[in-house]
Amino acid sequence: MLLSAQAYQRIDRELAKFPADQRRSAIMAALAIAQEEKGWVSSEVIADVAAYIGVPPIAVQEVATFYNMFDKHPVGRFKVTVCTNLPCALRDGVKAGDYLKQKLGIEYGETTPDGLFSLHEGECMGACGDAPVMLLNNHHMCVRMEQAKIDEMIEELKKQGESA
Ligand code: FES
Repeated sequence: MLLSAQAYQRIDRELAKFPADQRRSAIMAALAIAQEEKGWVSSEVIADVAAYIGVPPIAVQEVATFYNMFDKHPVGRFKVTVCTNLPCALRDGVKAGDYLKQKLGIEYGETTPDGLFSLHEGECMGACGDAPVMLLNNHHMCVRMEQAKIDEMIEELKKQGESA
């Protein structure tokens, strides 16, 4: 058992949404809960989630691999995913990504040496009209991320990182 009792309780609530013979339908939610707690989904986490749900590990592995919101390697405390799909790219999405890279001193797929920030490229997040669009830690959508707002976000996150 790798996760906290609270995490397993949350997974139980997800499992309760499906008939007993369709427990695999809860894999995605269970993986999200596990990632929220562990920061990323290691092969041990995948095996644990599979055993808890009662499905073969490969079924969980497939979901973890298919969706890019799941991190198969350790990431920074703050994971910033920049939408680089065409509508955003045409409206300064690329520029915003380049600015973040330069500001953090890392490329997409990398983590800052202090372990605070990871930068990722993402797919359309459904808010193209408000480009540039970013997702923070897979959950929090940030829109109209011009340079000043990026500066603000990074400063705020650094403060949170220091006070942790
Ligand atoms: Fe970026 Fe849709 S293309 S949110």
